[in-house]
Amino acid sequence: MTQTSETDGTAGKSRANDEVWIVGATGRVGRGVTARLVARGLTVVPVGRSRERMVAAGTEAGLPGDAKVVIADSAERVADEIVRERPRVVVNTMGAFAATAPVIARACMPGGHYVDQANDVVAVDRLLALHDEAVRAGSTLVTGAGFGVLATEAVVAKLCEGRPTPHRVRVDAVGSVAVEAGVLGAALAASIVDALTAGGRQYENGRLVTSRLGADPQQLMFPDGESATSAGVASGELLAAHVVSGAPFVTATSALVPTAPLIRVLLPLLGRLLSVPTLRRLAVDRLGRAPVKAAPRPREHSWGHAVVEWADGTLHEGWLRAGDGMDFTADVTATVTELLARGVGTPGAWTPAAALGADLATTAGGTFVLDC
Ligand SMILES: NC(=O)c1ccc[n+]([C@@H]2O[C@H](COP(=O)([O-])OP(=O)(O)OC[C@H]3O[C@@H](n4cnc5c(N)ncnc54)[C@H](OP(=O)(O)O)[C@@H]3O)[C@@H](O)[C@H]2O)c1
Repeated sequence: MTQTSETDGTAGKSRANDEVWIVGATGRVGRGVTARLVARGLTVVPVGRSRERMVAAGTEAGLPGDAKVVIADSAERVADEIVRERPRVVVNTMGAFAATAPVIARACMPGGHYVDQANDVVAVDRLLALHDEAVRAGSTLVTGAGFGVLATEAVVAKLCEGRPTPHRVRVDAVGSVAVEAGVLGAALAASIVDALTAGGRQYENGRLVTSRLGADPQQLMFPDGESATSAGVASGELLAAHVVSGAPFVTATSALVPTAPLIRVLLPLLGRLLSVPTLRRLAVDRLGRAPVKAAPRPREHSWGHAVVEWADGTLHEGWLRAGDGMDFTADVTATVTELLARGVGTPGAWTPAAALGADLATTAGGTFVLDC
């Protein structure tokens, strides 16, 4: 059942155009984004399936206890409410973006804007496929508004500025995230399972081709002297690096992919098993309920990294340094959302730096470390 609670019934409709809806406002990203946008004076409306938990999360984020919330328990029901009330911007943090993003983003059109934190190939690709529709509708849709995609996309954009199209690009994402005590959560569990089932991808001669998940393991030395390992993955970062650079050869790695030799050998088998719908559902359910202990972030900084190579052998390398990866994600989404709410942004479907420029990463609190 879908229902809407208005504390100010007379003003609700006319005020709707100023509203920013946060779908998944009780989740980790949703809570962080809500708090940031409330602090910036935007009219924020939590959207989700439990009124009690949304009121509690909203109050913690600085909303009054009697603030409006929208109750909806699926992307389709969220979409119905959007069509009815026409909020100015909808932030989708409910996860399973390959399925939920097109449904919610379409409901925002015409005229409304949309933001999510997707970072898998299918979800980012599906959202970007709405570009022409969004242009016609005068809506700006931004996917990957988080550490992943922006932390690597912004570095590639910076390194390519004022230069010809490069031949080869590699991006590496190494987030550092403090763990909250509780459960892993279904949204994150679904992202992990989807990454395993998607396998690997890379661009060869401009074509997206299958590669091995966990290919190309890297030992990365960060500018602050710390280090981490990463390995190949099919990510939204891969798509964004290709689009922003135009390079025909692009690879992407992530520190989320295990690099231990035995596990790397088992990854493809695990991916195939989890492609079976029943096993996928079971894995997402079990993993989502898995208890996690609070832990500080493993490294002081999260790093986005890119190496860009031109046909004449010229090579440039750069980093984006951020703090906690989850905090940076909430900062990126809040920054993008505020800009869209204020009318900044070109109609179309974009990754964050493509929509709002590479310096969005510094506005959101990151720092570039470039070799040029
Ligand atoms: N790109 C990046 O760098 C980046 C960074 C961080 C996270 N992410 C992604 O962002 C997503 C959110 O992450 P998170 O850690 O905030 O997840 P989370 O804590 O599990 O939060 C998910 C939120 O969505 C809500 N939700 C889930 N299913 C729903 C449904 N059917 N109807 C209505 N609401 C529903 C949950 O509500 P309930 O309280 O009712 O469960 C919760 O509020 C994940 O997909 C994650 O992978 C991306």
